[in-house]
Amino acid sequence: MLQPKRPIGLANANHRMLRKISCTVVLLLAGVALAPQGVALAQPASNTATFDLAQHPTNHADSLWVVVNKKRPLIPLKYAPVTSKPKFALPSTNNPYGRQLAKPAALAIVILANAMRAEGAGDLVLNSGYRSFGEQTYVHNRQVQRFGLEAGEALAARPGYSEHQIGLAADVSALGQGCVIQFCFGGTVGGKWLRENSWRFGFIVRYPKGKTPITGYDYEPWHLRYVGTALSRQMRKDGVTVLETFFGLPAAPAYRH
Ligand code: DAL
Ligand code: ZN
Repeated sequence: MLQPKRPIGLANANHRMLRKISCTVVLLLAGVALAPQGVALAQPASNTATFDLAQHPTNHADSLWVVVNKKRPLIPLKYAPVTSKPKFALPSTNNPYGRQLAKPAALAIVILANAMRAEGAGDLVLNSGYRSFGEQTYVHNRQVQRFGLEAGEALAARPGYSEHQIGLAADVSALGQGCVIQFCFGGTVGGKWLRENSWRFGFIVRYPKGKTPITGYDYEPWHLRYVGTALSRQMRKDGVTVLETFFGLPAAPAYRH
C-alpha cells in the first residue's frame, strides 16, 4: 500500500536535466519546464545564478539535499543510513535518550548546541534523531491512533517518508524552557534562537509556520533538518524557508494513496 507509484526523482527528470545544463538564467529563458506527464514545474527559487543546485542530488536517500515528503518516499523504502552519537559537551543534558544522527548532522549539532549555550539561548536537548523504518512505523501509528488519520499524518510521516529515517532530522528542545515538541516551542528563547540561527550551522527549521500546504506537515519549530551550510546560507540569503520551494519541486500536501 505504501509502494510509491512515482518514486523520487522521476517526476523531475526534466527538471534535473535542466539543472545539469546548469543555471537559473537558462531556466528563466526557457520559461517553465514540462515534466514527462506534461505538468508545469515551478522554477527553483534560488535567485543567485552562481549557486550550483546540482551539488547534491535531491532524489538520493543518502544525499545531503534529499527532499523527502509525502510525494517523495525514500528509495529504498527501508533505507538506513550510517549513524553515530553526537559528541555533546554535556551528554546527559544534551542527549539524555542517547539518540543518533547521520554523521554530518551529528558533528554539526554539537557545534550548534555549543553556540546556543554560549549565546545564552539555553541547553539543547536532542529528543529524537535517527528513527529506523520500524521506529517510524511506531511513531506514525501512535499519532494516527491518537488524532485520527488526517491530523495524525499532519504530525508524523509514514515509514519510508520521514526525514528522521535518513538521520538528518533532529527534534530538539531547550532544557527547562518547556513546550517540548509543542507549537509553543517557537515562542521560547531557545525556539526563537534556533529559528534565527540554525542556518549558521547548516540546519533549517523544516516545517515552518504557514507552509503546511507545501510541506504537508503542521508547524514544527522543534524539527531541524541538516542540509549543510552551503544550502542553509543560500536559503537564508534568498529568504526561502522550504526545500520544495528552493528546488522548484511540487508541493506535497498529501500522499498519493
Ligand atoms: N514529524 C515529522 C514530519 C516526521 O515524522 O518525520
Ligand atoms: Zn521531527
